[in-house]
Amino acid sequence: MHDSYPDIPSTQALRNLQTLAQKAAENSYSPYSGFRVGAALLLTNGENITGTNVENVSYGLTICAERAALFNAVSRFGPTIRIAAVAIANLHQVASPPCGACRQVLAEFIEADAPVLFPTTNGPRIMPFHELLPLAFEMKVK
Ligand code: THU
Repeated sequence: MHDSYPDIPSTQALRNLQTLAQKAAENSYSPYSGFRVGAALLLTNGENITGTNVENVSYGLTICAERAALFNAVSRFGPTIRIAAVAIANLHQVASPPCGACRQVLAEFIEADAPVLFPTTNGPRIMPFHELLPLAFEMKVK
């Protein structure tokens, strides 16, 4: 565990995160879609946290891998966590960028420049979070 993480995660750190996301996808509970997704977060405290999608017979109660990872991170390290990088993987060799709902939820805890690595039809792609969700909803009541 480190006290703080360098501003820009290394390529090695991202590769490691991708491997963790892939491993997390193996735990997927997805009997309805058959789509197995994993997500891994690098926190600014240096910790890696993973999550996978957990489906439900009601369909709408399903949780995506990204949100499962985030809720896992808050549950383990508390409300002050900050996310320095995210990796997403699936076991199907298809594209899986994070869904809109997960982007909004990540926005609460992620650094604007944090790299987000996800599979596309052209292989893995890395984008800074602010490009994935340029106008996240915020509530700043005066
Ligand atoms: N899923 C994720 O885990 N992450 C996403 O960003 C999009 C979709 C899951 C939810 C559901 O279990 C399955 O993929 C099919 O939508």
